[in-house]
Amino acid sequence: MDMKHAVSRRHFVGGMASVLGYLGLGPEANLLAQAPRAAGQGPGPVTADAYDALAKLGNNENPHGPPESVMKAMNHAFKYAQRYNYPDGGIVQAIADHHGVKPENVLLGAGSGEILTVVGTTFLMGGKKVVGVEPTYATVYQQATNIKAEAIKLPLTDDYRQDMAEMIKATKANYRDVGFVYLCNPNNPTGVIVTKQETKQLLDGIPEDMPVLIDEAYHHFVEDPNYATATPYVLEGRPVIIARTFSKIAGMAAMRLGYAVAPPELIQRMRPYASNSINVLAKWGGVASLKDTAAQERVKRETLQLRKKTAGELTSMGYAVIPSETNFFMVQVKRPVQGVIEDFRKRGIVVGRPFPPMVEHLRVSIGTPEEMDRFMVAFKEIFAGAKPTTAANRG
Ligand SMILES: Cc1ncc(COP(=O)(O)O)c(C=O)c1O
Repeated sequence: MDMKHAVSRRHFVGGMASVLGYLGLGPEANLLAQAPRAAGQGPGPVTADAYDALAKLGNNENPHGPPESVMKAMNHAFKYAQRYNYPDGGIVQAIADHHGVKPENVLLGAGSGEILTVVGTTFLMGGKKVVGVEPTYATVYQQATNIKAEAIKLPLTDDYRQDMAEMIKATKANYRDVGFVYLCNPNNPTGVIVTKQETKQLLDGIPEDMPVLIDEAYHHFVEDPNYATATPYVLEGRPVIIARTFSKIAGMAAMRLGYAVAPPELIQRMRPYASNSINVLAKWGGVASLKDTAAQERVKRETLQLRKKTAGELTSMGYAVIPSETNFFMVQVKRPVQGVIEDFRKRGIVVGRPFPPMVEHLRVSIGTPEEMDRFMVAFKEIFAGAKPTTAANRG
């Protein structure tokens, strides 16, 4: 064992009690119970050493972190750390230019999670309903619960797609009560896209004044030519709100930067509920990130290579993997996933929480090559002797 591994192993063992607490296996069993938590919220791990020793495959982050160009911009921005009204690098204009829209079409959030919450508050107040699928990213549903509004959650199709015909039906049937429709594209946790034809079908099929929130957090990882961003609908003036984040492709999850692109009248309705407290480093880093398309290409290439390699290995072992267009995938493990999650945790590997009703599917984020190696070693251990009975592996 070389020095680096010896040290990190010592840290790992030394931090084990707190890791187990963090992982919900020790006395603090429910500290981080497997309830969905909005990105960037909730208690952090007990110690940094314990956290650093984990393979972090549970939150669809970007293990590469910000590239050099973004680090430089953020370092530069430190000189404004003690100010209020400082130059912000032109972040709103940069986002507007990136999408070919105007600054009044853009609202910043501390992560796109804030945008989802703001949309929830703006359009669900007064006991309205949101229409969406289950499972999907849960923040808008949580916000609905927080403000005593409701969600109409529709099941996915047998091939894990979001069913546009059912969404249209539910929206029309509840028209007077529906505040907005939520579409996560590609969907988290499945990694499956809504095609551009399906997006059009939805927008043409629901009442034309119905707001639609389209969450494009994983936009940059998609390869399928049938996918397209829905931002052109904003330019057409349709009541479409696009949510984007710098947490995934840009590797800035802890910096908390996201935004909405929407028609100005919707942005104006949302703005009073936004915190307007994005930090200076995130703003300058965001501007640099939008320019560094080469870094984003690199992240995409390496992430997809690793995803395909890992999914291929699991498939050849007989486990069905849902074809993903993101930096994570789901594998059917043919047993209740809660126990599997705990088996991984005992090995210092954090994987995704359960996503009912898909309780035999494990969501795995793509980490570093080393993390994915640890995942595969652990997977083989946990499933040693198991005979997957999957008839049709979908690769
Ligand atoms: C689909 C989706 N939307 C939004 C978010 C929120 O991310 P953030 O608040 O870091 O931008 C996430 C985070 O995992 C996500 O998966």
